[in-house]
Amino acid sequence: RPSPKRYKKGPGRNRAKPEGNCTCQSQNPAGQEGTWQRTISLAITPMPTKRFDFAYTETPLVELPTSIQTLAEEALKSTTLSYAPFSGFHVGCAVLLDNGEVVVGANQENASYPCGLCAERVALYNASTLHPKAQIVALAIAARNGDSPTEAPVSPCGACRQVLAEYAARQESPIGVVMVGQSRTVWVHDARNLLPFAFRL
Ligand code: THU
Repeated sequence: RPSPKRYKKGPGRNRAKPEGNCTCQSQNPAGQEGTWQRTISLAITPMPTKRFDFAYTETPLVELPTSIQTLAEEALKSTTLSYAPFSGFHVGCAVLLDNGEVVVGANQENASYPCGLCAERVALYNASTLHPKAQIVALAIAARNGDSPTEAPVSPCGACRQVLAEYAARQESPIGVVMVGQSRTVWVHDARNLLPFAFRL
């Protein structure tokens, strides 16, 4: 069993008075049995903090407005357009535009895995290309794992949140997001809430 490693405040390092101590236990890196302890001194100076929180709705789909229910159904239908032989996870997405059009997308995989693209970005890029002047009102995401629609709401990955956030910022109006699951649905009023500190140039 290796001896515990201790990181302590030393000369020239961590000059600020440490106000927090953290003792972590983990498996030792050599993969040997047992645990080891590491004591890390954190130099935390009291300072004003900021908080991010937002309200969202979690409800059975039937309680949402009918236009959103229809969009959710389009998303579920679009799972049949997915090409997902590698994961077997078929994602469908439907984007509602302010001109009334609905543009869909589905995840497209590739034997070279990173080349694949999520349903949300397929749909968003499709919508923006076909209707460059339209605003995006809302986006619905649904998925089937094999043949079964997912019980839990499907939530967009980080990269898709970045793309959503930029479209919302660009059009200067919120994009609603509906994450569809069989047991419940999540409705978020503004996609930008899903990615605090989104990257901007
Ligand atoms: N996928 C999406 O289409 N959207 C997401 O937000 C997350 C994941 C796809 C990518 C891949 O084809 C499959 O789901 C499994 O990760």
